[in-house]
Amino acid sequence: MGVDVIRARAHAKINLHLGVGAARADGYHELVTVFQSLSLHDELELHVRHGTSAGAGSVVNSLDLGGTAGGVPADSSNLAWRAVDKLVAVYRGAGVGDLPMVDLKLRKGIPVAGGMAGGSADAAAALRAAHAWLAELADPVPEADLERIAAELGSDVPFTLHGGTMLGTGRGENLVPVLSRGQYHWVLGVSSQGLSTPEVFAKLDELRASGRDLPAATDTAALNRALLSGDPTELAGCLVNDLQAPATSLRPGLRKILTAGSAAGALQGIVSGSGPTCAFLCRDADHAGEVAAELTDTGLVLTARTATGPAEGAHVVPETF
Ligand code: C5P
Repeated sequence: MGVDVIRARAHAKINLHLGVGAARADGYHELVTVFQSLSLHDELELHVRHGTSAGAGSVVNSLDLGGTAGGVPADSSNLAWRAVDKLVAVYRGAGVGDLPMVDLKLRKGIPVAGGMAGGSADAAAALRAAHAWLAELADPVPEADLERIAAELGSDVPFTLHGGTMLGTGRGENLVPVLSRGQYHWVLGVSSQGLSTPEVFAKLDELRASGRDLPAATDTAALNRALLSGDPTELAGCLVNDLQAPATSLRPGLRKILTAGSAAGALQGIVSGSGPTCAFLCRDADHAGEVAAELTDTGLVLTARTATGPAEGAHVVPETF
């Protein structure tokens, strides 16, 4: 018989560069972004319920969030659940035959609604786990099918599937690798309340429409050079996020957190993606530990966590949680 439990892990991302163009007809914004994955990750288990039959419906019987993920849906609207069903549809189309039901267990290590692609990472982990399961039952579908499903599920899902350091264009789903030397050390200032990504994009449109001079940052040449140098001080001068102005406009408290990170000695602080998590680049692991401790002491953040980047893409792991 096949494997009963498959575990997969997927990592958080930050945008070292996030240039946001005008809104498109489909509501998405044209991006020029450089993603980097971080050591922070979520884990997903796929439990195969041998002896059951899913018929023609969803193979997912349940989604267990372990009580740790407030605000994350535990039903078929969850991206991980949808990812499994979408991949199953491809395998069914290829004639896989009757499938048993599965239970999903998700353990969140990535802040929820924090601008770090936590939901996207769960979808990527679900794709890897479901692919490992289904590829035991039928000819494996090509990687291109996983990439297509990932892009359908969300703009950040293709990157969380791949990991590393990548340039993203389009709505973020067109990816090419970017060379990055060494490991960078980050402190993540996590807020208790998430921010809605669509609201932050809409706020940027509104600020631009009201005449605020917020041009789209499209040039990543200096960042690419800094990443090749492997020098965090050089990288610090190249971090750009066009969503920082709207995120701080919606959540003015973020300015205090960014100032507190600088006062604690961080090389540079930046809002992560659409926020509200603030990412602080540090010189090394010891420095990150000091900055995290000082930021925690300010009481401005829920937690301050250290992380390194780049990290891997979503992958199946042998060990338990
Ligand atoms: O693709 P995803 O579902 O993660 O995007 C969430 C929301 O973020 C979109 O509905 C849209 O409002 C906004 N978004 C955008 N432009 C992008 C990516 C996301 O406007 N390139």
